Amino acid sequence: MQVAPSILSADFGILAQEVKAICDGGCDLVHVDVMDGHFVPNLTIGPVVVSAVAKAATKPLDIHLMVENNSFFVDLFAPLNPKYISFHIEEEKHPHRLIQKIRDLGISPAITLNPHTPPEAIEFLIDDLDMVLLMSVNPGFGGQKFIPNVLERAFRLKEIITKRNSSCLIEVDGGVNDKNIQALKDAGVDIVVAGSYVYGNDSYADAIKSLQI
Ligand code: DX5
Ligand code: ZN
Repeated sequence: MQVAPSILSADFGILAQEVKAICDGGCDLVHVDVMDGHFVPNLTIGPVVVSAVAKAATKPLDIHLMVENNSFFVDLFAPLNPKYISFHIEEEKHPHRLIQKIRDLGISPAITLNPHTPPEAIEFLIDDLDMVLLMSVNPGFGGQKFIPNVLERAFRLKEIITKRNSSCLIEVDGGVNDKNIQALKDAGVDIVVAGSYVYGNDSYADAIKSLQI
C-alpha cells in the first residue's frame, strides 16, 4: 500500500518543514488538496504556496482538484510537475478531453469520484487513466469520518479495471487510519491518502509505516 499524506492537516505556519517531515518519514506521495470555495465549501491553496510545497518535497506531488473550471486549474499547476492531477467527474463536462490534456502535459491523469458516484460512471475512461481516486468522505475538509461504502465501490472498480486489462491504480481519500487500512487493502486499494491520522500522530514516520501494509 502506498501512502500519500494530505498536507491539509499540516501546520501551515511551518509548511516546508511539515512537507519535509513526511518525505523523510517515508511517504510515497505528497497529497495536495486544492479547493476553490465553489465546488466545495472551503478554500485552500494556489500555485504560489504549492510551488513552495514542491520545493520542499522530495516525493512526487499528487494534486487533488476540488474546483469548478478544471482546465484552468490544470494550466495553473502543470508547471509544478506533479506526478498526478485528479479532477472530479461530477464537475467536468468533457472528462475525456481533459484526460488527454493532462497526459499531453506529461502528467498522470486521474479522476475522483464522490461517495455517491458509482464506479461504472467512468468505465469507458479507465483505459486512459493512471489512477481513480475514490472519496471516502464528502470533499471539503480534513478530519471527517470514514464512509464505509468505499469498500464496495473499490471492489466494483477493481472488477472493471481487471475486466479491461488496465493498470489503473485505486486511491482512497478521507478518514483513513490504522483501523480501516486492512479492509482497504482487501478491497484492492493501491494508495491511501491520510491527513489527520498522519499529522495527528507524534511520529509521522510511524503513522505512515502503519499504513504501508
Ligand atoms: C478532503 C480531502 C482529503 C483530506 C483527508 O476533501 O480531499 O485529502 O484532507 O483528510 P483526513 O485523512 O483527515 O480525512
Ligand atoms: Zn484529497
